[in-house]
Amino acid sequence: MNKAFYLTTAIDYANGSPHLGHAYEKILADVIARTKRLNGESTHFVTGLDEHGQKVQQGAESEGVLPQERCDRIAKEFKNLLIELSVSNDDYIRTTESRHKKVVSTLLQDLFDRGEIYQAEYQGFYSTRAEQFLQEKDKVNGEWPEIYGEVSQITESNYFFRLSNYQDWLIEYLGNEKDFIVPNFRLNQVLEFLKEPLNDLCISRPKDRLEWGIPLPFDENYVTYVWFDALVNYVSAAGYGQDDFMNLWPADLHVIGKDILAPPHAVYWPIMLKACGLPLPKQILAHGWWMSSGEKMSKSTGEVVDPLSLVEQRGVDAFRYFVMREMTVGQDADFSLERFESRYKTDLGNDLGNLLSRLFHMTATYENSIVPKVELNEEFEQKVKSNFEEAKKQAMARFDSFQFNQGLEQIFIFIRSINKYADERTPWKLAKSELSEDRIKLRTCLGVMVESLRLAIQMLAPVMPGVHEKVNKLFGLPVCKSWESDLKWDFRLEGMRLGEKTILFPRD
Ligand code: ME8
Ligand code: MG
Repeated sequence: MNKAFYLTTAIDYANGSPHLGHAYEKILADVIARTKRLNGESTHFVTGLDEHGQKVQQGAESEGVLPQERCDRIAKEFKNLLIELSVSNDDYIRTTESRHKKVVSTLLQDLFDRGEIYQAEYQGFYSTRAEQFLQEKDKVNGEWPEIYGEVSQITESNYFFRLSNYQDWLIEYLGNEKDFIVPNFRLNQVLEFLKEPLNDLCISRPKDRLEWGIPLPFDENYVTYVWFDALVNYVSAAGYGQDDFMNLWPADLHVIGKDILAPPHAVYWPIMLKACGLPLPKQILAHGWWMSSGEKMSKSTGEVVDPLSLVEQRGVDAFRYFVMREMTVGQDADFSLERFESRYKTDLGNDLGNLLSRLFHMTATYENSIVPKVELNEEFEQKVKSNFEEAKKQAMARFDSFQFNQGLEQIFIFIRSINKYADERTPWKLAKSELSEDRIKLRTCLGVMVESLRLAIQMLAPVMPGVHEKVNKLFGLPVCKSWESDLKWDFRLEGMRLGEKTILFPRD
């Protein structure tokens, strides 16, 4: 069996409701998954939820429910979001599932047995109010800020993973694997981070401070802490320990946000895998942040956009189009409702929506909705066709390199060129003429427009799966399964009856 393209996202922290940042990441990964499938690659796409930790425990306590109950509720909310966003994940992994906990235990025990994990005293400043360890850098003007309450120096015994042993290996690895991190400039940030000596990684918390975690298999007084739990989801979801694990592993692509690149995904994770004797993922794609008023949108700042309200207002495909069109993958982008509305009205309403409605209207009025035969191939028609070939070439290349905003731009240049073709051919004038050459021009124009719209819609499939399906239905076509077979300029709709004209992107 051929190895599937194994694609993952970060697993969201079960500590609040999903926001635009979470929605974006899942859509980005979904667009990649759909693109792969359309290119004929079998794909396994996994996302999930990161459920352990202090904040989850505290959140449950303050609600007076069990942590698991709270997680179940939040999992429902995040899973519902995926459905609302038309995300086509093949699996959803939760870190409280036994398939995951078993794998974490197995790996921890194995590393412990081989001396990769050891116990040591951990010294640090601890804030009881914030229930967290602090560092010198948390001080403001040499003082602990008020929010931490009383800060004391405590010593605690904990378990550590020997990260430092692998520093030289990792630096060399990253130096050789130029495509490991995209965009490439982030590799330098990782290498910069690796210039300082790595400390071994504290992987445990005593149970009397943190209960809501996976117990260490070799010491029941501790649970594992944060990354040793969360990162392992990628191998547990691939079925680590089972026969078919290597049908998925190594992952082909981890899609994550830039905040969890270095150190977690670019330092801890490769080293954990290396220490476990497992192959490394092929590539990590680190996307940027959605900002609002110059700050990262996050639970803690409170300035968040609820993706579902936008989906409700303008439909899921408009939302997906907007986030993919506005964000240069890897960079940050500011969210603004004005931009959202302007993309909706201009690109979707004027360019794409109007093309469809004027084309369907004319075909109904002049040709009884039957797609006419194309009999001319003059300069106008040749230009539309070459615009398509160019858009296809450019868009496919941009999609392959995750530059979706540019790929979409190319497709919309093509869409606008179809409208321009109509303005040049003026079918509404030709329709008034009795001359047979004008009839041929009219029929050709409608035929070329139908073919062009069909092709544009196939290219938009990964970003706007709903619109894609809806328009294909109007054409009497099934959803596109393969670009290789469907992205051909071949007038395959000739003689077919079009469905009723529809408004794809209604105005208020
Ligand atoms: O980091 N814009 O969970 P998380 C874009 N559980 N992306 C954003 C964003 C924003 N404003 N805010 C968050 C965690 N994200 C861990 C991950 S993976 C083994 C464990 C992205 O809920 C963020 O970068 O804080 C991350 O990739 C994902 O949302 C989940 O963030
Ligand atoms: Mg976060």
